[in-house]
Amino acid sequence: MTMPTNKRIYLSPPHIGGYEKKYVEDAFQSNWIAPLGPHVDAFEQEVAQFAGSRGAVALSSGTAAIHLALRLADIGEGDYVFCSSLTFVASANPILYLGAKPVFIDSDPYSWNMSAEVLERACKEREYLGLLPKAAIVVNLYGQSADMNPLMEICSRYGIVLIEDAAESLGATYRGKASGTYGKFGVFSFNGNKIITTSGGGMLVSDDLDALEKARFWATQARDAANHYQHSQLGYNYRLSNVLSAIGRGQLTVLERHIEKRRKVFQTYSQQLSYVPGIRFMPEMAYGKSTRWLTAFTLDPEQSGTTTEQMLFAMERRNIEARKVWKPLHLQPLFADCSYYPYAEEFSVSAQLFANGMCLPSGSSLTEEEQHLVMNTVEGCIQKNQMSLH
Ligand SMILES: Cc1ncc(COP(=O)(O)O)c(C=O)c1O
Repeated sequence: MTMPTNKRIYLSPPHIGGYEKKYVEDAFQSNWIAPLGPHVDAFEQEVAQFAGSRGAVALSSGTAAIHLALRLADIGEGDYVFCSSLTFVASANPILYLGAKPVFIDSDPYSWNMSAEVLERACKEREYLGLLPKAAIVVNLYGQSADMNPLMEICSRYGIVLIEDAAESLGATYRGKASGTYGKFGVFSFNGNKIITTSGGGMLVSDDLDALEKARFWATQARDAANHYQHSQLGYNYRLSNVLSAIGRGQLTVLERHIEKRRKVFQTYSQQLSYVPGIRFMPEMAYGKSTRWLTAFTLDPEQSGTTTEQMLFAMERRNIEARKVWKPLHLQPLFADCSYYPYAEEFSVSAQLFANGMCLPSGSSLTEEEQHLVMNTVEGCIQKNQMSLH
């Protein structure tokens, strides 16, 4: 195999704007190289304001935010928690941290997000069995909000706390309001691959300021008010540092620009590749605006004569990072003993999306030239396989 000569094209690399250095320099100059400080407070206020939530707590990761949200929902040993199946493992890992058990819910075939119909069926069945979960983690996949209204209505009817995993959907909207603000708790991630990054970090948002104060307390080792080190509750070291918050503040100034760029990247892919036999892009639902954090599509192996594995191989040969759609959590060995509610008997939407779904490089710094190389690779791979079919 000849070595590719181009620079690697990444799926979703960090994209630094202009203000990050200025804020970081300020943190250095003021010697706030600490887990607390003015940039942490300001970053929390700015994210809360952007999202339209009453408050926010800056944390070391989105995973930490999910963990704290679950604890605020009083999840503990032996409890059950509903969770979208088609997501990254971090959505569900904190359920295990607390000794609780995930119950996975399949996707809706249009939005690719948690199906309200399936959630309703699962609630009915588990109420009858006396095994109703106390919380639900609803994931907003690849930058698109789930259909929150019916999901919220079901959760409220069954007394389930809704936690919105908006790690991938910062800046998206649902019915005109920010994604991440529909659940009792919302979670954002600033991991290096997200739409904006602090290299690693997360945010918990909510309108319940007392709950956020509790999260802040737990996230700083649960130190009681005393003039010595006194602890009566279990805590964590989960706060975001002042330096990383400074990066986050700089990144927030370019968030809208990044969203528009990612949407444009999606548009270009869909204009050029929609005619290719077997390709169907993840639809954008009429109820909201997706950030198109990642451009995702399905590839029908019969129509295209190409499997996602073959496509990934073709990409790798050109030094392009592409990925399969998340492997659903109900198919992960880690969760082999957990319950799963599919879309229909004998039909799992998330398993189908995993079998045929792929994500293309979608970063806001992707150049036109790089994007053309990606699109040519997709077209070339399918054309070659179709020729060998005839
Ligand atoms: C859907 C989803 N949930 C949670 C996380 C976890 O966020 P973090 O990496 O900041 O812990 C991620 C991404 O990393 C994610 O994509």
